[in-house]
Amino acid sequence: MEKMTTKVNEIRDALHKVTSLSFDEATVMPASYYTSDDFMRLESEFIFHRDWVCLGRVDELKNPGDFYTTELVGEQLLVTRGNDNVIRVLSNVCRHRGNTVAFGSGRKSRFSCRYHAWTYDLTGQLVGAPRMENVKAFDRSKVALPSFKTEVWEGFLFVNMSGNAVPLAPRLEKLLPYIKNYDVADRVHGFTEEVTWKTNWKCLAENFMEGYHLDITHPKTLKPLTPTGLCEYVPSDGNFNAYYSYYDPSYPERGPFPPNLTDKEKRCSFMFGVFPNLVVAAAPNVLIFLCLSPNTANSVNIRWGMSALPQSDGITAEQHDFMDQVNAEDKSKLETMQQGLQSRYIESSPFCIEDLEGTIVDMYRFMATRLGSDVVLDGAEDKG
Ligand code: FES
Ligand SMILES: [Fe+2]
Repeated sequence: MEKMTTKVNEIRDALHKVTSLSFDEATVMPASYYTSDDFMRLESEFIFHRDWVCLGRVDELKNPGDFYTTELVGEQLLVTRGNDNVIRVLSNVCRHRGNTVAFGSGRKSRFSCRYHAWTYDLTGQLVGAPRMENVKAFDRSKVALPSFKTEVWEGFLFVNMSGNAVPLAPRLEKLLPYIKNYDVADRVHGFTEEVTWKTNWKCLAENFMEGYHLDITHPKTLKPLTPTGLCEYVPSDGNFNAYYSYYDPSYPERGPFPPNLTDKEKRCSFMFGVFPNLVVAAAPNVLIFLCLSPNTANSVNIRWGMSALPQSDGITAEQHDFMDQVNAEDKSKLETMQQGLQSRYIESSPFCIEDLEGTIVDMYRFMATRLGSDVVLDGAEDKG
């Protein structure tokens, strides 16, 4: 980046400022935090390339040869389960001249580039390259798709593209007691879908993690189940945000239940976000996850899905339809908000009470640790 724009500096200053404010003193970030492409470039470089980023559930790929492709901040990724049963996240970019190698998802033992047919196995190793035998500088055994660092936490697959992030699990130790009884790691993959919403990725992360909008945005779906008035903020240690979304007393039981779930836990969904890009609703009977992958400042790709309890018959059509409805309600609000956020006449507002919007400030504080104005952004000058 040649020169940081004034706007980016303003955003970074506002992030730094929030770290010294209590929740009651904090105010909504400037609109440019959610609309600036220059700031998005910093997020891409200093968060999405360097942090642990969640791609989905590890059991989406059940058998050797199962694969899917996806994109993360402009990087084409190929996720495979090898014959050794290891899940790998590979660069889906041909080592010959850069074409995309694999498309879609399915089951394969080899991936052949459509351009000149260089062919790779499930580990990314090149196993075939037509007419290359007499090329002196070419050694097939030395050519492979780059393989990124991965970590599996509670059944979620994370990738770290830079390879330098410290292990994830120790950072999330404080979150574990809250989710332990929900048996998150044991949930069985039901489905994953990929969709694009015209909103900033952080708006969606905030929306999923705040209970203030539940009654108004979801009057027929979530209000009868998890009304706004029954949300309880959970303090963060900087690596996650969370709240309890208690069920209306008149709502029927949501069994079957994981065996160790307490009476309190049977009557609420535990909502949590793992910074930067994973948000989850752990309900007694289903697990809902959204993995956010920013596309531009004003658009986000979402891999979202649901997982079921092992002792159930899987995700039902009714459960899937319910979440489709909830998502449609959120999408419509977030897309009109993204239009509103383009305004130059926005002034900062205080938040509602901590039980309803405290999680948003927790996410601001995380962002401040990565991009606050006190953070030295090494290499920012070179990356345009
Ligand atoms: S670019 Fe893939 S084989 Fe040439
Ligand atoms: Fe919502």
